Amino acid sequence: MDSNMELPEYVKGNRAAWDQMAADYVAAGERAWATDEVTWGIFSAPESEWHLLPDDLDGKDTIELGCGTAYVSSWLAKRGAKPVGIDNSPNQLETARRLQHEHGIEFPLLLGNAEDVPYPDESFDYAVSEYGAAIWCDPYKWIPEAARLLRPGGELMFLGNSVQLMICTPDEAEGVVEETPVTTTLERPLFGMHWMTWNDGSTEFHISHGERIRLLRECGFEVLDLVEIRPQEGATTTYPYVSLEWARQWPVEEVWKARKRS
Ligand SMILES: C[S@@+](CC[C@H](N)C(=O)[O-])C[C@H]1O[C@@H](n2cnc3c(N)ncnc32)[C@H](O)[C@@H]1O
Repeated sequence: MDSNMELPEYVKGNRAAWDQMAADYVAAGERAWATDEVTWGIFSAPESEWHLLPDDLDGKDTIELGCGTAYVSSWLAKRGAKPVGIDNSPNQLETARRLQHEHGIEFPLLLGNAEDVPYPDESFDYAVSEYGAAIWCDPYKWIPEAARLLRPGGELMFLGNSVQLMICTPDEAEGVVEETPVTTTLERPLFGMHWMTWNDGSTEFHISHGERIRLLRECGFEVLDLVEIRPQEGATTTYPYVSLEWARQWPVEEVWKARKRS
């Protein structure tokens, strides 16, 4: 059960911010639910090229941590998985529930904090986050929680802004990162990077690659891959903060794949 009173302050801040932003994510959610062509991230990197999903999801118990409109879980369901989604925003989940009904694909959707999921240990075979817990939850809380939720041999995959993008994003930004143009200058220290609170009261979390690898290993994961997404020539994005020219030179997004040690 979700109780707003018991949530950490930054989780309450992110709930308020995401309830505001939810309307802007409806159209993208509708498009993603309606398509069988899985694509990832802000330049729509095709799954057929990047192979981020496991080959066999049939019958697998999956959890999407920070599912938003839950289109990723809808793709997993179409591949035979038994998904669960958890999200911190009632308004995002309202869209997800409507799209479930419209597409006739139903699975549990929980309102809650992905750092503290109300499921027993070792409930899932696969955990995934596309810009959900991956950037909006404290990695020192949500990655141990993902390890707890996964069965031995279970896999975790998460996609979010790259470290390179975040250190080239100016600190004096107005609003959230979505509105802050990335530069070609190192704008903030890498050492000590962890929390980033934006002017709308939302907080993101980004840590260095070395810290990420140590954290994953300490939580019992074997790191399988760090995929740096490079968009194809001619790829487009609706997000104003980065150009294709930038994204063809440095990764805008990074994808981590890890397996819980048996
Ligand atoms: C950019 S969306 C990503 C989800 C999905 N890919 C989408 O675009 O709808 C980020 C989501 O993370 C959720 N979120 C933020 N903090 C969270 C937390 N502590 N626990 C669970 N979800 C959280 C937000 O409510 C939001 O729906």
